[in-house]
Amino acid sequence: MVILVLGSGAREHALARSLALDPAVDEVLALPGNPGIAGLARCLPGDPTDAALVVHVARTEGVDLVVVGPEAPLVAGVADAVRDAGIDCFGPSAQAARLEGSKAFAKDVMAAAGVPTAAAHVCTTPEQVAAALSATGAPYVVKEDGLAAGKGVVVTDDLAEALEHAAICLAREGGRVVIEDYLDGPEVSLFCLSDGTDVVALDPAQDFKRVGEGDTGPNTGGMGAYSPLAWAPEDLVPEVLAQVARPTIAEMSARGMPFAGVLYVGLALTSTGPRVVEFNARFGDPETQTVLARLRTPLAGVLRAAARGELATLPPLEWDPRSAVNVVVAAEHYPATPTTGDAIGGIERAEEVEGVHVLHAGTATDETGTLVSAGGRVLSVVAVADDLPRARDAAYAAVGRIDLRGSHTRPDIALAAAQGGVDLPDEPRAEA
Ligand code: GLY
Repeated sequence: MVILVLGSGAREHALARSLALDPAVDEVLALPGNPGIAGLARCLPGDPTDAALVVHVARTEGVDLVVVGPEAPLVAGVADAVRDAGIDCFGPSAQAARLEGSKAFAKDVMAAAGVPTAAAHVCTTPEQVAAALSATGAPYVVKEDGLAAGKGVVVTDDLAEALEHAAICLAREGGRVVIEDYLDGPEVSLFCLSDGTDVVALDPAQDFKRVGEGDTGPNTGGMGAYSPLAWAPEDLVPEVLAQVARPTIAEMSARGMPFAGVLYVGLALTSTGPRVVEFNARFGDPETQTVLARLRTPLAGVLRAAARGELATLPPLEWDPRSAVNVVVAAEHYPATPTTGDAIGGIERAEEVEGVHVLHAGTATDETGTLVSAGGRVLSVVAVADDLPRARDAAYAAVGRIDLRGSHTRPDIALAAAQGGVDLPDEPRAEA
């Protein structure tokens, strides 16, 4: 099988790595890929949102399956164009990707499907925003309706900050914001593969969105993740499949926009049960790096089954029971104004730590052939070990061997879980 991966981050490096390890795969191509992906795949230049280019490459290279990493090509209709060309594609249509592309659309689908989520107000004027914020109270949750590359959501106790973010979103063309009730409880990411009808869940993971230790500072694309979640309720996955993923997939099908790809269910485990915080139409980054590090079933067959409507024929997935931790190495001044162009060293030494592999995100090779930083999140350092404390130790030991001037990591990735300190909120007591 020849597989083309679209994208250039550490998530795509993880996908390409797992695909390259699948004995059924003859060759992995990436468009555009990155210097790390180039170590195991043939990288081709170009814009992954250019549907005509992707179809041309897939045809001329004899590609059997296109795997779409980020959301932008999905929203641009690349998966539709690939399928129209008669080539299998893992990734939803542009219409179905609106589950991620429009928060208001996602809320509408959730309401129709009876999916448990936060109450929401869709606002198009400052007056509606003020009324909604007054109704929800603090902490305020303000989400830009459209795609915002991880910068569209503000959660704050500061009313002025909430109003300011909403005003910025409203000022954009067609501006709409969604104001939601705040959901308490630990967050979980569950990736649900669907072929438009059937659904198969991967093991859950947890990511760390704020830049600073103890969930402080601004939101980022994600500073780290771990899997599995030993503290999560045993019936979490079946419950989310039954209450969230399957009803959503059925609702999308009923609307004539079947969802084939990965439905990323972002959940809060609240005192009244799991509630959906957000849907995405793609794998999460940095969680995917930990989930795929533990998936033993060869990946290509799984993604091709989803692309072809054959998930019902797939045997149960097999998992490495050990723990995986991903610590993201971020560039100086990330997320505000990341510095780029600094030399990166120590990756080989980092990979000498047992159980560790290093995935590239914002990296490039300069004119002298030196590996340099080229984005905010530069590397994902992934460790697999017998338990979470050991996986953390290995990941941080490896991070310590990376040389990148001014770089920073969060020191507390998976720390609470490793110490048994992730608490689920108590269920509300029944009224007497
Ligand atoms: N882990 C957050 C995201 O992928 O959007």
